[in-house]
Amino acid sequence: MTASCHLHALSAYVPDAILTNDDLARMVDTNDQWIVERTGIRRRHRLDAGANASDLGVAAARLALDRAALDAASLTHVMTATCTPDLLSLSVACIMAGQLGAGPVMAFDFGAACTGFLYGLSLGQSILAQNPASRILFVCTEALSRRVNWQDRGTCVLFGDAAAACVLSGDARQGQAALEDVICHSDGTQRDLITVGGGTACTYELGQPVRDDFFISMQGRETYKHAVRQMVNVCEDILSRNALHMSDIGLFIPHQANMRIIEAVGSRLKITPEQLFTNVEHYGNTSSASIPLALSEALAAGRVKPGTRVLMTAFGAGLTWGAALLRF
Ligand SMILES: CC(C)(COP(=O)(O)OP(=O)(O)OC[C@H]1O[C@@H](n2cnc3c(N)ncnc32)[C@H](O)[C@@H]1OP(=O)(O)O)[C@@H](O)C(=O)NCCC(=O)NCCS
Repeated sequence: MTASCHLHALSAYVPDAILTNDDLARMVDTNDQWIVERTGIRRRHRLDAGANASDLGVAAARLALDRAALDAASLTHVMTATCTPDLLSLSVACIMAGQLGAGPVMAFDFGAACTGFLYGLSLGQSILAQNPASRILFVCTEALSRRVNWQDRGTCVLFGDAAAACVLSGDARQGQAALEDVICHSDGTQRDLITVGGGTACTYELGQPVRDDFFISMQGRETYKHAVRQMVNVCEDILSRNALHMSDIGLFIPHQANMRIIEAVGSRLKITPEQLFTNVEHYGNTSSASIPLALSEALAAGRVKPGTRVLMTAFGAGLTWGAALLRF
């Protein structure tokens, strides 16, 4: 099923507070050199006490609606990718729709971890195939600092908080970018490699302190191997089924998890420095928000011109992974 799906008004928001590698070195046994050498990350943003994923998402959504000159009341859907929702129920999308004044829209969250942006593009395409007049506010928002185990040096250095939002519609005239293709995959047999706790599998009695299972846990080495292999494979698949080569790609935006993963994927796919965009240094891994945050910065930096074809790929808990092609 193919349908016209156009992305526009992409906007991102990060909270003000910054946590540097030196800040982390005061909390756990780590240091700036180790973190930079193994991950490329130098700092990450962290939301304030009392704020939640919905607050970041609303801030990004307001920027997107302003940019699109759209009234929230004209939306038909609010769709949120997040693995750190405010609550197990109700959805972040409902909270945001209420705060934005979106009216009785269809509002829902979905969980695809760091592949959330690509899964959302695929979902948006399906919604637009059903009703081409749909106007979807798509928000990726993550409050990962709320599920980071600040005693686990193997994971606490990796993650940051951020949100990004865009409007998906079938109207080419409004479109900044056309979705040319998207592939989404999963492998639930590898579900233990990365988990974020806090769901009903974390069983607690009232008053009992939380345990490690409440927080992000990850088998770093194994995750690394799967991430590189699957992102390379899915990029080769999407290029081949569209009869494209890497030389047809103007900009490559991989999930910003870790510079070493990005470099390994880039060297296998023979990406040139001119094709690659990264900002993991400034934000760490912001899960579903990572690709749209990078894409919005690439747009602001003038790295995308009319006609530029952008290849994006992501990998995350589930396991999930995928790739998508956008044409500006
Ligand atoms: C997390 C990651 C950077 C760790 O690098 P690594 O080279 O695999 O390191 P290991 O986990 O094997 O640990 C090596 C040593 O470094 C130590 N170490 C781990 N984190 C550390 C830190 N922040 N500072 C200092 N030392 C650290 C370990 O304890 C271990 O010490 P030991 O040898 O004394 O036991 C790497 O595995 C990785 O990038 N994995 C993928 C992570 C990711 O991107 N996940 C999200 C995908 S969506």
